[in-house]
Amino acid sequence: MRKRGFRSLLQDKLDPEKLRLVYKSYDIVGDIAVIRVPEKLKQHSALIAEAIMQLHSNVKSVWRQTSPVGGNYRLRRLEHIAGERRTTTTYKEYDCVFRVDLEKCYFSPRLSFERMRVASLVKPREVVVNMFAGVGSFSIIIAKHSEADRVYSIDVNPAAFQYMWENVLLNKTVNRVVPLKGDARVIITAKLLKTADRVLMPLPEKAHDYLDVAVDALKPEGGWIHYYDFVHAKKDEDPVEKAKVKVSEKLSQMRIAYAIPFGRAVRDTGPWWQQIVLDIQIRGRR
Ligand SMILES: C[S@@+](CC[C@H](N)C(=O)[O-])C[C@H]1O[C@@H](n2cnc3c(N)ncnc32)[C@H](O)[C@@H]1O
Repeated sequence: MRKRGFRSLLQDKLDPEKLRLVYKSYDIVGDIAVIRVPEKLKQHSALIAEAIMQLHSNVKSVWRQTSPVGGNYRLRRLEHIAGERRTTTTYKEYDCVFRVDLEKCYFSPRLSFERMRVASLVKPREVVVNMFAGVGSFSIIIAKHSEADRVYSIDVNPAAFQYMWENVLLNKTVNRVVPLKGDARVIITAKLLKTADRVLMPLPEKAHDYLDVAVDALKPEGGWIHYYDFVHAKKDEDPVEKAKVKVSEKLSQMRIAYAIPFGRAVRDTGPWWQQIVLDIQIRGRR
C-alpha cells in the first residue's frame, strides 16, 4: 500500500537525505502494519511507525520486516516496533474474513485482485485443487464467489493449515473448502488424481517443478491451471512471454496438448523481477 502524505508526515522529523530513504510502500493486514526500514534508518523506526499509525487510525501494531520471505513455509522475520505486541489479526476481503498469524503463515494483501480474478473464472459445479493454499484465502474467496462444488486446499505448514480450518469455519464454507495438510505432490498422488477442473499453483518457487502433478490432478478431459512464477525481464523483454516459453518447454516434454490464452504481470517483486500468472488450458495428453 502507498498513501499520499506518508513521507510529508516525517518531513519535520527527518533530514531530506534520510527522508528519501524511507520506503513509500508497506503492507497493512487487518490492524497490523508491516514495514521495511533500511538499516541506515533503523534508529528512526519508531518515528516511521508513528507516522503510519497517524495515517491509518485502525492500525494497532507495527512490525519491521527483517528478512525476505523465505523457506518452505514462505515466512518473513518480523521485529516489533510500535503498538500491541501481537502478529495475529483479522483481515477482510470481498466479504470474507481471514484470521492469520503473520509470523507463522504467509499472507499478502497484494494478491487481492488476483484472488477475485481467479474466482470469477470458476464455473458452477467445478472441482478446484489449490496446491499451495496458505490460510485459505484463494480457496475461500472462490467458494464464496462462485458455485464451485469443492475446493481441495493443500498446505504443508501446520500453522497455515490450522488457520485455514479456522477460516473455513468463520466463512461457513465447511464441506466446500476441504483443508488438507501435507505436500501437494504426495496428497494429489494419494487422493486427488484426475479429480479437478481447475488447479491453482500460487507458489512461484515450486510451480514449475510441480507442474506435472498439477496436470495429473486434472480430469482426463483436461481443465485449467493457474500458474504463478517469478520472471527476470529486462526493459525490452516481456515477462509473460518469457514465462510462456519456460512452461511450453515443460508441457511439450510431457507430451501435453495445451494453450496459454492469458497471462499477466501480477506485481513487481524487485528490480527487473515480476510475479506473473499464466492461465493454462490443458486439453489432454497427446
Ligand atoms: C506463497 S504462499 C501462498 C499462500 C496462499 N495461496 C496465499 O495467496 O495467501 C505458498 C504456500 O505454500 C505452502 N507450501 C510450500 N511448499 C508446499 C508443498 N510442497 N505442498 C503444499 N504446500 C506447500 C507454504 O506453506 C505457503 O503457505
